[in-house]
Amino acid sequence: MPGHCFGHLSLKNMETVYLNGEFIDAADAKVSVFDRGFLFGDSVYEVIPFYQGRGFRLDEHLHRLAYSLRAIQINLEEDWSALLHELVRRNGGGNVSVYLQITRGAAEYRNHNYDDSMSPTVFACCRAIRDIYQDGADAVQGITAMVTADLRWHRCDIKSTGLLPNILVLQQARQMGVDEALMIRDGFLTEGASCNLFVVDKGVIYTPKRSSEILGGTTRQLILELAAESGIPTQEVDIDYDRLVDADEVWISSSTRGVVPVLKIDDRAIADGRKGPLWARMFELFTHYQQQLMKG
Ligand code: PDD
Repeated sequence: MPGHCFGHLSLKNMETVYLNGEFIDAADAKVSVFDRGFLFGDSVYEVIPFYQGRGFRLDEHLHRLAYSLRAIQINLEEDWSALLHELVRRNGGGNVSVYLQITRGAAEYRNHNYDDSMSPTVFACCRAIRDIYQDGADAVQGITAMVTADLRWHRCDIKSTGLLPNILVLQQARQMGVDEALMIRDGFLTEGASCNLFVVDKGVIYTPKRSSEILGGTTRQLILELAAESGIPTQEVDIDYDRLVDADEVWISSSTRGVVPVLKIDDRAIADGRKGPLWARMFELFTHYQQQLMKG
């Protein structure tokens, strides 16, 4: 399959992947059809950006991975940091996003029940990414979004590969000609199909409270930390539809996209429909944070 192109950079999957203890060519990586990840979505994952070969918020990602594994009772000890750094190195270093998936493993036949002695399947691969901080705030394109019902289960704090509802709402958004789907449950916004949500009102940054209805995003956490360090007020609150569309600014956040302004929701422009000043400030704080990390 051809990769997407960002200028000279071809964003196709890279050659060497990790599978169950081995670094091998992607074409040789094979998983059983009885793998529970395939049959039941019985698996968890992480997506971690590496810039110039260094993990961005790696500890936070690994912390969340441990949380997800514990939550679904997969017992597995690994030196994830060493494993992922080695994978990135074998693919030439640089700017990549690493995908790491751990399934409960393969049984001899399909059975909802599993036995504790199963050996998990561990898969990791990487993909070239653009350094989102390299070209400055002007290069960041704002996005459009729609609001739709959150059809997911009530353990969205587990980073599970059971992503069918996320895929369906994102496809719905694409069919409506917008970039992102923001989900609403019981009258309150939760998050986007693969991102967290922020609104800005009169200089305060608001985001939905951490709960089992949303993923505890590593980028979300970084926004809250950087805001606190800079004296920008933040509040974790319930956000209803009116609060969203009447906000001064709306942002989404994820590891691969960073913090991105949402300019239009359901055909309503957010404020003047342009990227807001507090977003520009937050983007600057992210850029500075990333530069420090690269130096350290
Ligand atoms: N998604 N919410 C959901 C449902 C997500 O899938 C993601 C990340 C986030 C943001 O989390 P973080 O800031 O730690 O990336 C929030 C990844 C990028 C993905 O599925 O590809």
